[in-house]
Parts: sequence; structure tokens; C-alpha cells
Amino acid sequence: MSKTTVIAIAGASASGKSLFASTVYQELVAELGSDGIAILAEDAYYRDQSHMTMEQRVLTNYDQPSAFEHDLLKQHIRDLRDGKAVEMPQYSHTTHTRLPESIPVAPAKVIMVEGILLLTDPSLREQFDISVFMDTPLDVCLLRRIKRDIEERGRNLQSVTEQYEKYVRPAFFDHIFPSKQYADLVVTRGGRNEIAIDIIKTKIRQLLAE
Ligand code: CTP
Repeated sequence: MSKTTVIAIAGASASGKSLFASTVYQELVAELGSDGIAILAEDAYYRDQSHMTMEQRVLTNYDQPSAFEHDLLKQHIRDLRDGKAVEMPQYSHTTHTRLPESIPVAPAKVIMVEGILLLTDPSLREQFDISVFMDTPLDVCLLRRIKRDIEERGRNLQSVTEQYEKYVRPAFFDHIFPSKQYADLVVTRGGRNEIAIDIIKTKIRQLLAE
């Protein structure tokens, strides 16, 4: 295994990927030190839509591979493995655009990457040493998504429902669910699954001790 361990956390929209990643991060960061662990979000690599009208942005399919700048994400993972810091973009789900400020991410012994389509792309998959799939029931994900998109992403019930039926649900069956076969660890019951969090933490400690 390479010096940097890269862990993918994939799964449906609102399945608890970011909660799982941030919980592992919070529980290990003090122990591993400042160059110990970092998180990249696939969401940060959504393509900028600032050249489009708001109507065009709202109608865009954000659940297909071409919505993401995966080449930049791959480059950033490679750079971090090579010991180079990267500037992770910041993305607004409210305006559907990249924000002017990026977030510096320093190289770390463990890089967690979380996102819906990480395991669907063979050239991305080969970047990951460990792959986790959040197997949260789709009805639980949908309820979370409705609440989150209305409270945090400037949406309303009608827009969430239309987008879900047109793009989000089909993408789950076309892209996300089939990619579960590539996971090393399938996590049920969402991002608070303490046993799964402990398993990943134990594996990380074991790799760092080698
Ligand atoms: N999306 C959107 N509008 C955009 C860009 C993305 O509605 N301008 C939606 C896509 O439809 C996609 C979702 O964002 O389904 C991807 O983010 P998601 O995985 O839901 O966010 P996380 O916070 O990573 O989810 P989790 O709860 O699993 O942590």
C-alpha cells in the first residue's frame, strides 16, 4: 500500500457520506496530528455553471458523471499522494456555481473522499485503497434530501420532487447502486453506524502502524 491511504466513501445522495467521513475525521484528527487526515468532497468538483442562466442551471442533470470535473479531483488526489498541497474548489448548491475562494488541503497520511459517483469511474476507482458504500435505504435518503435541500440549498418541495424523479432516482439505479459491487465495506444504517466507523478507524491505525 502507498504511503498515503485514500479512502472513498460513496453512496446515494443524502445517504450519510459526509457525516461518516467527518465522524471518522473528528475521532482521529487529534490522534493523527495535523498531517494525519484530510477530506475531499466530490461535490466541490461540480462544474461551474456561472455562464448559464438560473433557469438553465436548475434544469441541469447533476447526477451524471459529466456534471463533475473528475479529472481535477484525480489530479488533486495524485498531488496529495505526491506530497503537494491542493486548492479544493468550493461550490454553492444554491447558485450552482463555484465560489471564488478555494480551500487549501495539505497532504495527509489518510485522505477521505466522499461523493455519489466515486465508484462509477474506473480511473477514479484505481485511486482508492479502500472503498466504502453507504447502503442507506432510499426512502431515508429521500426524506433527508427534502429537508436538507429546502433548509440549506434554497429549494422548495416542488423543485426537489421534480429533480428527484427526473435525475436523482434514475441515477441511483443507473450509476450509484451498480457501483456498490466495488466497495470493500458496505455500511448499513447511515453515517452514525458506530461499528463501521470503528472498523475504518482500526484499519487506518493498522495501516499507519505498518
Ligand atoms: N446537486 C444539486 N444542485 C447542484 C449540484 C448538485 O441539487 N447544483 C445535487 C445532485 O442532484 C446530487 C447531490 O447534489 O444528487 C450530491 O450531493 P449529496 O451526495 O446529496 O451531498 P452530501 O452532503 O455529500 O450527501 P450525504 O448526505 O451522503 O453526506
